[in-house]
Amino acid sequence: MSVLVTGGAGYIGSHMVLTLLEQGEDVVVVDNLSTGNEWAVPGQARFYKADIADADALDAIFATHAIDAIIHFAGLIIVSESVEAPLDYYSENTCKSRVLIQRALDAKVESFIFSSSAAVYGAPGLEPVTESAPFAPESPYGTSKLMTEWMLRDVAAVNPGFRYAALRYFNVAGADPKMRAGQSSRQSTHLIKIAAEAATGKRDGLQIFGDDFDTPDGTCVRDYIHVTDLANAHYCALAYLRAGGPSVAANCGYGSGYSVRQVVDAVKAVSGVDFRVTQAPRRAGDAAMIVADSTFAREAFGWMPELDDLETIIRHALEWERRLGNRTGGQPDG
Ligand code: UFG
Repeated sequence: MSVLVTGGAGYIGSHMVLTLLEQGEDVVVVDNLSTGNEWAVPGQARFYKADIADADALDAIFATHAIDAIIHFAGLIIVSESVEAPLDYYSENTCKSRVLIQRALDAKVESFIFSSSAAVYGAPGLEPVTESAPFAPESPYGTSKLMTEWMLRDVAAVNPGFRYAALRYFNVAGADPKMRAGQSSRQSTHLIKIAAEAATGKRDGLQIFGDDFDTPDGTCVRDYIHVTDLANAHYCALAYLRAGGPSVAANCGYGSGYSVRQVVDAVKAVSGVDFRVTQAPRRAGDAAMIVADSTFAREAFGWMPELDDLETIIRHALEWERRLGNRTGGQPDG
Protein backbone atom coordinates (compact mmCIF):
# COMPACT_ATOMS: atom_id res chain seq x y z
CA MET A 1 0.00 0.00 0.00
CA SER A 2 1.07 3.60 -0.56
CA VAL A 3 0.62 6.80 1.41
CA LEU A 4 -0.37 9.92 -0.53
CA VAL A 5 1.13 13.13 0.88
CA THR A 6 -0.44 16.35 -0.43
CA GLY A 7 1.82 19.37 -0.10
CA GLY A 8 4.77 16.99 0.21
CA ALA A 9 7.11 19.53 -1.42
CA GLY A 10 6.42 22.07 1.34
CA TYR A 11 7.97 22.62 4.75
CA ILE A 12 6.10 20.15 6.98
CA GLY A 13 5.15 17.83 4.11
CA SER A 14 8.77 17.28 3.08
CA HIS A 15 9.64 16.21 6.64
CA MET A 16 6.66 13.86 6.60
CA VAL A 17 7.92 12.24 3.41
CA LEU A 18 11.33 11.62 5.03
CA THR A 19 9.69 10.04 8.09
CA LEU A 20 7.50 7.77 5.95
CA LEU A 21 10.43 6.65 3.78
CA GLU A 22 12.49 5.90 6.89
CA GLN A 23 9.63 3.67 8.05
CA GLY A 24 9.75 1.76 4.78
CA GLU A 25 6.51 3.19 3.40
CA ASP A 26 5.83 3.65 -0.30
CA VAL A 27 5.20 7.38 -0.74
CA VAL A 28 3.36 9.33 -3.42
CA VAL A 29 3.52 13.15 -3.33
CA VAL A 30 1.13 15.56 -4.99
CA ASP A 31 2.00 19.25 -4.87
CA ASN A 32 1.20 22.16 -7.20
CA LEU A 33 4.52 23.83 -6.29
CA SER A 34 2.78 27.13 -5.51
CA THR A 35 4.95 27.41 -2.41
CA GLY A 36 6.81 24.07 -2.33
CA ASN A 37 9.98 23.05 -4.15
CA GLU A 38 10.35 19.94 -6.25
CA TRP A 39 13.93 19.47 -4.98
CA ALA A 40 12.49 19.02 -1.48
CA VAL A 41 10.87 15.71 -2.54
CA PRO A 42 13.31 12.82 -2.09
CA GLY A 43 13.96 10.66 -5.14
CA GLN A 44 12.46 7.54 -3.49
CA ALA A 45 9.03 9.20 -3.41
CA ARG A 46 6.88 9.33 -6.54
CA PHE A 47 6.14 12.97 -7.35
CA TYR A 48 3.16 14.39 -9.25
CA LYS A 49 2.94 18.11 -9.95
CA ALA A 50 -0.80 18.65 -9.66
CA ASP A 51 -3.38 20.60 -7.74
CA ILE A 52 -5.52 18.73 -5.21
CA ALA A 53 -8.59 20.22 -6.90
CA ASP A 54 -7.63 18.54 -10.17
CA ALA A 55 -9.99 15.58 -9.88
CA ASP A 56 -8.69 13.95 -13.07
CA ALA A 57 -5.10 14.08 -11.85
CA LEU A 58 -6.16 12.61 -8.49
CA ASP A 59 -8.14 9.84 -10.14
CA ALA A 60 -5.11 8.94 -12.28
CA ILE A 61 -2.96 8.76 -9.12
CA PHE A 62 -5.49 6.54 -7.35
CA ALA A 63 -5.70 4.32 -10.44
CA THR A 64 -1.90 3.91 -10.51
CA HIS A 65 -1.13 3.48 -6.80
CA ALA A 66 -2.85 1.40 -4.13
CA ILE A 67 -3.33 4.24 -1.66
CA ASP A 68 -4.75 3.32 1.75
CA ALA A 69 -3.92 6.60 3.50
CA ILE A 70 -3.71 10.31 2.74
CA ILE A 71 -1.80 12.88 4.76
CA HIS A 72 -3.13 16.24 3.66
CA PHE A 73 -0.84 19.27 4.11
CA ALA A 74 -1.51 21.24 0.93
CA GLY A 75 -2.94 24.67 1.74
CA LEU A 76 -2.27 28.28 2.59
CA ILE A 77 -0.88 29.11 6.03
CA ILE A 78 -0.38 32.82 6.59
CA VAL A 79 -2.91 34.11 9.10
CA SER A 80 -2.60 37.82 8.18
CA GLU A 81 -2.91 37.02 4.46
CA SER A 82 -6.14 35.13 5.21
CA VAL A 83 -7.62 38.28 6.76
CA GLU A 84 -6.81 40.26 3.59
CA ALA A 85 -8.00 37.56 1.15
CA PRO A 86 -10.49 35.31 2.95
CA LEU A 87 -11.97 33.75 -0.18
CA ASP A 88 -8.51 32.55 -1.26
CA TYR A 89 -8.25 30.68 2.03
CA TYR A 90 -11.73 29.18 1.80
CA SER A 91 -10.96 28.17 -1.77
CA GLU A 92 -7.51 26.66 -1.16
CA ASN A 93 -8.06 25.17 2.29
CA THR A 94 -11.74 24.28 2.38
CA CYS A 95 -13.13 23.88 -1.15
CA LYS A 96 -10.08 22.05 -2.45
CA SER A 97 -10.07 19.76 0.59
CA ARG A 98 -13.65 18.90 -0.29
CA VAL A 99 -12.54 17.70 -3.75
CA LEU A 100 -9.75 15.63 -2.21
CA ILE A 101 -12.07 14.06 0.39
CA GLN A 102 -14.58 13.14 -2.32
CA ARG A 103 -11.85 11.50 -4.41
CA ALA A 104 -10.53 9.71 -1.33
CA LEU A 105 -13.99 8.27 -0.64
CA ASP A 106 -14.40 7.18 -4.26
CA ALA A 107 -10.98 5.49 -4.14
CA LYS A 108 -11.87 3.75 -0.85
CA VAL A 109 -9.03 5.35 1.08
CA GLU A 110 -9.38 4.23 4.69
CA SER A 111 -7.23 6.67 6.67
CA PHE A 112 -7.04 10.44 6.30
CA ILE A 113 -4.75 12.68 8.34
CA PHE A 114 -5.47 16.38 8.15
CA SER A 115 -3.14 19.25 8.87
CA SER A 116 -5.26 21.40 11.17
CA SER A 117 -4.20 24.18 13.49
CA ALA A 118 -4.40 25.58 16.99
CA ALA A 119 -5.96 28.52 15.15
CA VAL A 120 -9.31 26.71 15.48
CA TYR A 121 -9.27 27.70 19.18
CA GLY A 122 -8.62 31.41 18.63
CA ALA A 123 -7.40 32.96 21.88
CA PRO A 124 -7.91 30.20 24.43
CA GLY A 125 -6.66 31.97 27.56
CA LEU A 126 -3.73 31.34 29.84
CA GLU A 127 -4.11 27.59 30.48
CA PRO A 128 -2.91 24.78 28.17
CA VAL A 129 -5.71 24.08 25.71
CA THR A 130 -7.31 20.63 25.37
CA GLU A 131 -9.14 19.30 22.33
CA SER A 132 -12.49 19.94 24.01
CA ALA A 133 -11.88 23.71 24.29
CA PRO A 134 -14.48 25.80 22.46
CA PHE A 135 -13.83 26.58 18.81
CA ALA A 136 -13.35 30.30 18.28
CA PRO A 137 -11.19 30.88 15.22
CA GLU A 138 -10.18 34.52 14.85
CA SER A 139 -9.09 34.42 11.22
CA PRO A 140 -10.34 33.00 7.93
CA TYR A 141 -7.29 30.73 8.11
CA GLY A 142 -8.53 29.16 11.36
CA THR A 143 -12.10 28.99 10.08
CA SER A 144 -10.99 27.36 6.81
CA LYS A 145 -9.22 24.63 8.82
CA LEU A 146 -12.18 24.14 11.16
CA MET A 147 -14.61 23.83 8.23
CA THR A 148 -12.44 21.05 6.80
CA GLU A 149 -12.39 19.28 10.16
CA TRP A 150 -16.19 19.45 10.16
CA MET A 151 -16.40 18.07 6.63
CA LEU A 152 -14.27 15.14 7.72
CA ARG A 153 -16.41 14.59 10.83
CA ASP A 154 -19.63 14.53 8.82
CA VAL A 155 -18.21 12.31 6.07
CA ALA A 156 -16.75 9.81 8.57
CA ALA A 157 -20.11 9.62 10.38
CA VAL A 158 -21.77 8.06 7.34
CA ASN A 159 -18.79 6.17 5.83
CA PRO A 160 -17.66 3.53 8.34
CA GLY A 161 -14.69 2.56 6.15
CA PHE A 162 -13.28 6.11 6.32
CA ARG A 163 -11.55 7.36 9.48
CA TYR A 164 -9.55 10.52 10.05
CA ALA A 165 -7.20 12.25 12.46
CA ALA A 166 -7.22 16.06 12.51
CA LEU A 167 -3.92 17.16 13.99
CA ARG A 168 -3.96 20.68 15.42
CA TYR A 169 -0.47 22.10 15.15
CA PHE A 170 0.89 24.66 17.54
CA ASN A 171 4.04 26.59 16.48
CA VAL A 172 6.04 24.40 14.14
CA ALA A 173 9.74 25.22 13.79
CA GLY A 174 13.20 23.73 13.27
CA ALA A 175 14.53 21.51 10.50
CA ASP A 176 15.42 17.90 9.83
CA PRO A 177 18.30 17.00 12.21
CA LYS A 178 20.16 15.48 9.22
CA MET A 179 19.59 18.70 7.22
CA ARG A 180 17.72 17.03 4.37
CA ALA A 181 14.76 19.41 4.72
CA GLY A 182 13.80 22.70 6.37
CA GLN A 183 11.75 25.86 6.02
CA SER A 184 12.80 27.39 2.68
CA SER A 185 10.22 30.11 2.05
CA ARG A 186 11.47 33.71 2.20
CA GLN A 187 7.91 34.93 2.83
CA SER A 188 7.59 33.33 6.25
CA THR A 189 6.08 35.36 9.06
CA HIS A 190 7.06 32.85 11.75
CA LEU A 191 9.16 34.00 14.66
CA ILE A 192 11.93 31.37 14.71
CA LYS A 193 12.37 31.52 10.92
CA ILE A 194 12.59 35.33 11.02
CA ALA A 195 15.02 35.25 13.95
CA ALA A 196 17.18 32.72 12.08
CA GLU A 197 17.18 35.03 9.04
CA ALA A 198 18.21 37.93 11.27
CA ALA A 199 20.99 35.88 12.88
CA THR A 200 22.35 34.88 9.47
CA GLY A 201 22.32 38.46 8.16
CA LYS A 202 19.43 37.99 5.73
CA ARG A 203 17.34 40.62 7.50
CA ASP A 204 18.15 43.78 9.23
CA GLY A 205 16.98 42.62 12.68
CA LEU A 206 13.60 41.67 14.06
CA GLN A 207 10.60 43.43 15.57
CA ILE A 208 8.86 42.21 18.71
CA PHE A 209 5.14 42.74 18.23
CA GLY A 210 3.77 43.93 21.56
CA ASP A 211 5.20 43.90 25.09
CA ASP A 212 2.05 44.67 27.06
CA PHE A 213 0.33 41.29 27.02
CA ASP A 214 -0.82 39.61 30.22
CA THR A 215 2.19 37.27 30.31
CA PRO A 216 5.26 37.11 32.58
CA ASP A 217 7.45 39.38 30.39
CA GLY A 218 4.64 41.07 28.43
CA THR A 219 5.39 39.30 25.12
CA CYS A 220 3.28 36.48 23.64
CA VAL A 221 3.81 32.90 24.77
CA ARG A 222 3.74 30.02 22.28
CA ASP A 223 4.33 26.26 22.25
CA TYR A 224 7.11 25.56 19.71
CA ILE A 225 7.21 22.02 18.32
CA HIS A 226 10.08 20.54 16.29
CA VAL A 227 8.93 19.71 12.76
CA THR A 228 10.45 16.21 12.93
CA ASP A 229 8.53 15.42 16.13
CA LEU A 230 5.42 16.70 14.37
CA ALA A 231 6.03 14.37 11.42
CA ASN A 232 6.43 11.52 13.92
CA ALA A 233 3.10 12.43 15.50
CA HIS A 234 1.53 11.93 12.06
CA TYR A 235 3.19 8.57 11.69
CA CYS A 236 1.85 7.50 15.10
CA ALA A 237 -1.61 8.73 14.07
CA LEU A 238 -1.35 6.73 10.87
CA ALA A 239 -0.51 3.55 12.79
CA TYR A 240 -3.43 4.28 15.11
CA LEU A 241 -5.90 4.65 12.23
CA ARG A 242 -4.56 1.61 10.40
CA ALA A 243 -5.05 -0.42 13.59
CA GLY A 244 -8.73 0.54 13.53
CA GLY A 245 -8.69 3.52 15.91
CA PRO A 246 -11.77 5.78 15.69
CA SER A 247 -11.62 9.25 14.16
CA VAL A 248 -10.02 11.88 16.38
CA ALA A 249 -8.74 15.41 16.68
CA ALA A 250 -5.46 15.83 18.55
CA ASN A 251 -3.26 18.72 19.61
CA CYS A 252 0.37 18.64 18.53
CA GLY A 253 2.54 20.70 20.82
CA TYR A 254 4.81 19.99 23.78
CA GLY A 255 2.82 21.69 26.53
CA SER A 256 5.58 24.17 27.33
CA GLY A 257 5.39 27.84 26.50
CA TYR A 258 8.15 30.33 25.62
CA SER A 259 7.73 34.06 25.26
CA VAL A 260 8.82 35.96 22.15
CA ARG A 261 11.59 37.55 24.21
CA GLN A 262 12.80 34.15 25.46
CA VAL A 263 12.90 32.85 21.88
CA VAL A 264 14.80 35.89 20.63
CA ASP A 265 17.32 35.63 23.47
CA ALA A 266 17.75 31.90 22.79
CA VAL A 267 18.39 32.52 19.06
CA LYS A 268 21.00 35.14 19.97
CA ALA A 269 22.65 32.78 22.45
CA VAL A 270 22.73 29.77 20.11
CA SER A 271 23.90 31.77 17.07
CA GLY A 272 26.27 34.03 18.97
CA VAL A 273 24.90 36.95 16.93
CA ASP A 274 23.49 40.01 18.66
CA PHE A 275 21.10 41.06 15.88
CA ARG A 276 19.03 44.21 16.17
CA VAL A 277 15.70 43.89 18.00
CA THR A 278 13.12 46.67 18.06
CA GLN A 279 9.86 46.96 19.92
CA ALA A 280 6.78 47.34 17.71
CA PRO A 281 3.02 47.61 18.38
CA ARG A 282 0.94 44.45 18.74
CA ARG A 283 0.28 42.53 15.55
CA ALA A 284 -3.46 42.29 14.82
CA GLY A 285 -5.04 39.10 16.10
CA ASP A 286 -2.19 37.80 18.27
CA ALA A 287 -3.39 35.96 21.38
CA ALA A 288 -1.38 36.41 24.59
CA MET A 289 -0.74 32.73 25.12
CA ILE A 290 -1.40 29.51 23.19
CA VAL A 291 0.03 26.33 24.71
CA ALA A 292 -1.12 22.78 24.00
CA ASP A 293 -2.30 20.14 26.37
CA SER A 294 -0.99 17.25 24.28
CA THR A 295 -1.88 14.44 26.68
CA PHE A 296 -4.33 13.00 24.20
CA ALA A 297 -1.85 12.55 21.31
CA ARG A 298 0.64 10.92 23.66
CA GLU A 299 -1.94 8.52 25.11
CA ALA A 300 -4.04 7.72 22.04
CA PHE A 301 -1.22 7.43 19.50
CA GLY A 302 1.68 6.56 21.80
CA TRP A 303 3.47 9.65 20.44
CA MET A 304 6.75 10.30 22.26
CA PRO A 305 8.47 13.56 21.31
CA GLU A 306 12.26 13.27 21.03
CA LEU A 307 13.33 16.82 20.20
CA ASP A 308 11.40 18.66 22.89
CA ASP A 309 13.99 21.35 23.50
CA LEU A 310 13.91 24.97 22.33
CA GLU A 311 17.68 25.14 21.88
CA THR A 312 17.65 22.07 19.61
CA ILE A 313 14.82 23.53 17.52
CA ILE A 314 16.74 26.79 17.13
CA ARG A 315 20.05 25.04 16.37
CA HIS A 316 18.45 23.08 13.54
CA ALA A 317 16.61 26.16 12.19
CA LEU A 318 19.89 28.13 12.18
CA GLU A 319 21.87 25.36 10.52
CA TRP A 320 19.26 25.06 7.77
CA GLU A 321 19.18 28.84 7.29
CA ARG A 322 22.96 28.90 6.81
CA ARG A 323 22.78 26.12 4.23
CA LEU A 324 20.03 27.90 2.33
CA GLY A 325 22.33 30.84 1.76
CA ASN A 326 20.65 33.80 0.11
CA ARG A 327 18.82 31.92 -2.57
CA THR A 328 15.05 32.26 -2.73
CA GLY A 329 13.48 28.85 -2.86
CA GLY A 330 16.83 27.52 -4.01
CA GLN A 331 18.27 24.17 -3.10
CA PRO A 332 20.51 24.37 -0.02
CA ASP A 333 24.14 23.31 0.03
CA GLY A 334 24.49 19.61 0.77
N1 UFG B 1 6.46 37.63 16.34
C1 UFG B 1 7.22 38.77 16.55
N2 UFG B 1 8.00 39.21 15.55
C2 UFG B 1 8.06 38.59 14.32
C3 UFG B 1 7.27 37.41 14.13
C4 UFG B 1 6.48 36.98 15.16
O1 UFG B 1 7.19 39.38 17.63
O2 UFG B 1 8.79 39.07 13.43
C5 UFG B 1 5.63 37.13 17.45
C6 UFG B 1 4.15 37.14 17.10
O3 UFG B 1 3.59 38.39 17.34
C7 UFG B 1 3.64 36.05 18.03
C8 UFG B 1 4.81 35.07 18.13
O4 UFG B 1 5.94 35.80 17.67
O5 UFG B 1 3.41 36.58 19.29
C9 UFG B 1 4.64 33.86 17.24
O6 UFG B 1 4.28 34.30 15.94
P1 UFG B 1 4.32 33.36 14.67
O7 UFG B 1 3.95 34.19 13.49
O8 UFG B 1 5.60 32.61 14.62
O9 UFG B 1 3.19 32.27 14.96
P2 UFG B 1 1.66 32.44 15.42
O10 UFG B 1 1.59 32.05 16.85
O11 UFG B 1 1.12 33.76 15.04
O12 UFG B 1 0.96 31.39 14.46
C10 UFG B 1 1.12 30.00 14.63
C11 UFG B 1 1.07 29.31 13.28
C12 UFG B 1 -0.24 29.51 12.63
C13 UFG B 1 -1.32 29.04 13.56
C14 UFG B 1 -1.18 29.68 14.91
C15 UFG B 1 -2.14 29.03 15.83
O13 UFG B 1 2.09 29.82 12.47
O14 UFG B 1 -0.30 28.77 11.44
O15 UFG B 1 0.12 29.50 15.42
O16 UFG B 1 -2.05 29.54 17.08
F1 UFG B 1 -2.52 29.35 13.07
